[in-house]
Amino acid sequence: MPARLVVLVSGSGTNLQALLDAAADPGYGAEVVAVGADRPGIEGLARAERAGVPTFVLRVADCESRAAWDAELSRLVAEHEPDLVVLAGFMKLVGESFLARHGGRVVNTHPALSPSFPGMHGPADALAYGVKVTGATLFVVDAGVDTGQIVAQTTVPVEDDDDVDTLHERIKVAERTMLVESVGRMAREGFTVDGRRVRLGR
Ligand code: GAR
Repeated sequence: MPARLVVLVSGSGTNLQALLDAAADPGYGAEVVAVGADRPGIEGLARAERAGVPTFVLRVADCESRAAWDAELSRLVAEHEPDLVVLAGFMKLVGESFLARHGGRVVNTHPALSPSFPGMHGPADALAYGVKVTGATLFVVDAGVDTGQIVAQTTVPVEDDDDVDTLHERIKVAERTMLVESVGRMAREGFTVDGRRVRLGR
């Protein structure tokens, strides 16, 4: 049985697309069973619909509180009985209810080399700092901002003439490969978390 992935998105969904493409091969070992978003009308949802994957949308503005949104999001995700929840460009922090229900099997991909440059502006912050190498980090989500245990990292150079868009695009190319490889291995081989360290395989 392939592992069941629920993927949460907020934007263009190119990381989601990479997972959908990989999962088309039965040997990949995982299938995307649902895609959720915190906003309607985004390309990420359109990609899911084109692939015939069920979608759901839950806006914070439609809930009584942020905590109510988090609890309802958690419930919607649980309906699809995921083995792994993948935050792929999901621009919201999940909260207590979500982690109580799904914690330990939620991963997020971040466009910087953790622990550097956490938060919403990883590529811009790396560029402003002047680092020569940056990249992307896949991590197990905890209650902090991009602080969870690291599953995988990939690096790219920062070029002298980069702006935020060119740098982020270069990161995203490497990020998609890392995400597909790592999620596939997590699905096929399992993983363990020991303190700060994540080990793939049984
Ligand atoms: C990705 O680079 C992802 O790491 C980043 O948004 C991009 C989404 O691209 N996520 C964050 O910055 C989360 N803090 P995509 O929608 O094309 O997959």
